Amino acid sequence: MPTVHLNGQFLPLEEARVPVMDRGFLFGDGVYEVIPVYDRQPFRLEEHLSRLQDSLDGIRLANPHSVAEWTALIERIVRDAEWEDVGVYLQVTRGPGPRDHAFPREVRPTVFLMPLELPAPPAELVANGVAAITAEDIRWSRCDIKATALLANVLLRQLSVDAGCAETLLIRDGQLMEGSASSVFLVKDGVILAPPKTRLILPGITYDVALELAGREGLPYRVRPIAEAELRAADEIWITSSTKEILAVTRLDGQPVGDGRPGPLYRRMIALYQAYKHTVMRGNPAP
Ligand code: PDD
Repeated sequence: MPTVHLNGQFLPLEEARVPVMDRGFLFGDGVYEVIPVYDRQPFRLEEHLSRLQDSLDGIRLANPHSVAEWTALIERIVRDAEWEDVGVYLQVTRGPGPRDHAFPREVRPTVFLMPLELPAPPAELVANGVAAITAEDIRWSRCDIKATALLANVLLRQLSVDAGCAETLLIRDGQLMEGSASSVFLVKDGVILAPPKTRLILPGITYDVALELAGREGLPYRVRPIAEAELRAADEIWITSSTKEILAVTRLDGQPVGDGRPGPLYRRMIALYQAYKHTVMRGNPAP
């Protein structure tokens, strides 16, 4: 039974209890992070905690912990976890209060952390890619906030589950945004294309890693708006996230992407990512 953290206490998951008047439960009034940990070494911890701060600022909730305190909490969750590789899930809600949309007079945030098993993406998916569908992006206009209120993402993700696919790629006003739980990249004519970080997408940590690796290796890339038509004409499509790493989308809405196999730039990028991840696993994070 995993050990979790709730409001200053470490306890078995089954014993963790939150009051029903918690605004996380009533309103989805909270934010979260999923931090990958490889071989018990947190990956890009500083960046995840900085995005947490941005999310908290975005919902006007004071950060209940310093970076040093968060780091200690995460280290303890990692130490007690039964797996070497974990995703540390953490969330902060605006805590309990009367059922009133307006913030409570006195805010006592609820802080929760738990370990999630983080299996490496199956070799079969890395070798062959995954299928995705597209859907209209029905989310709000602050998708840069990593909010626990994920109803639209949940409904959008379920569309791909119902279609037997791994992800739903979201189109807003004719432009590609991201996946329901991942960032997205295209390759066209040897150039990697990434949608810009606006308020309409989550600034993905894995997205940053992919672009950094591309820059370091001299792989051409452009960050610019991507039209839906470009998505449909792409040579390659990739999705990235802390839990999926980088996967090629080889079928989109039932049609093959490119030749229907993970493309050459995907194969370069996943090799770079895995090498980079292994430097972190040796406790020696690359710059
Ligand atoms: N989701 N976009 C959305 C909407 C996401 O939910 C996620 C990650 C990403 C990728 O971000 P990152 O590379 O920082 O993981 C992009 C997490 C894993 C989740 O909700 O479980």
